[in-house]
Amino acid sequence: MKALVLSGGAGTRLRPFSYSMPKQLIPIANKPVLEHVLENVAALGVTEIGVIVGDWGDEIEEAIGDGFRFGCRITYIPQEKPLGLAHCVALARPFLGDDDFVMYLGDNMLPDGIQDIADEFAAHRPAAQVVVHKVPDPTAFGVAELDENGAVRRLVEKPKEPRSDLALIGVYFFTPAIHEAVDSIAPSARGELEITDAIQWLVSSGADVRASEYDGYWKDTGRVDDVLACNHKLLDDRAPGVFGDVDGSSELIGQVTVEVGARVVRSRIEGPAVIGAGSLVEDSQVGPYTAIGRRCTLRATRLADSIVMDDASISKVPGLHGSLIGRSAVIGPSEHEDSHHRLVVGDHTRIEVAA
Ligand code: DAU
Repeated sequence: MKALVLSGGAGTRLRPFSYSMPKQLIPIANKPVLEHVLENVAALGVTEIGVIVGDWGDEIEEAIGDGFRFGCRITYIPQEKPLGLAHCVALARPFLGDDDFVMYLGDNMLPDGIQDIADEFAAHRPAAQVVVHKVPDPTAFGVAELDENGAVRRLVEKPKEPRSDLALIGVYFFTPAIHEAVDSIAPSARGELEITDAIQWLVSSGADVRASEYDGYWKDTGRVDDVLACNHKLLDDRAPGVFGDVDGSSELIGQVTVEVGARVVRSRIEGPAVIGAGSLVEDSQVGPYTAIGRRCTLRATRLADSIVMDDASISKVPGLHGSLIGRSAVIGPSEHEDSHHRLVVGDHTRIEVAA
């Protein structure tokens, strides 16, 4: 079996980050989403992975490499425009050949793994096997209606009035039967070749299409709140370890990882938390569910429930919470007048200040 990982797209719901980086490289528990995804795929024993990339292809290739460290070989497949998930399958046809494959959306996290579903697919080889999860508001997702035996009866992409609460989550298993379906559909009203339409085509033509309900943890990391929620989950599951320096006046409580070359000085770190390689945390308090990237500086700051990306620097900020701080961001007291705030803020940035 091969794998097709979709890592193109626009990522507008993750602005301003998506102006400067692909959403699939946002770090969660100090590792890009796409790395978590590729580890998850490689854990199935898949060794040939095609990765669809868009405008950020070079950055993604630089960060991820040729796949050697995941124990697989990665083929990058450029997509000029995000023309839909089924368009990605059509583009990847030369890579996929006539093999079965798992398609995995590069911004979806299923950290509990998908081995059981892969085994189910291998045992029965239906034309398509989708993965569904009950959600409170299905309108933001593809939605599946199943019959009493769990076979798929109907699929609708982001319906206004959903007829089931089963959302399609970012993993699909296919036999080569999907290619005829992809070739037979037309773009949807939003101008995309929808994979839901291709799978619906299979259903309508009488093919065996099954659904597996996933009861593990799942998150589409397309929005800031979801990124932070997923950070909670992954930090909770992470083994602690101190590989950097923690001075005698500092205190580490609970699951804390201090990566190589990081320094903790006169500070209190309450886990689950990770301090990235080469970072300095001085006279600060880091609260639970915080991931600090590499080469960051935190001075006289209190911070909790946040992600700080590489090379950022924060000083004298007493109460940061639920924050996502971008690479090389600088946050601290004004160099000019103490009584003023000075902001140099990019498009679509969001700043919430205490009243
Ligand atoms: O998260 C699950 C949902 O993912 C499903 O319920 C929907 O049925 C499915 O259409 C998809 O909806 P999204 O609106 O979340 O899709 P998004 O545009 O975020 O794209 C998903 C991934 O695929 C993301 O990593 C970007 C990549 N992509 C997307 C398109 C449209 C591509 O590589 N090329 C594309 O043309």
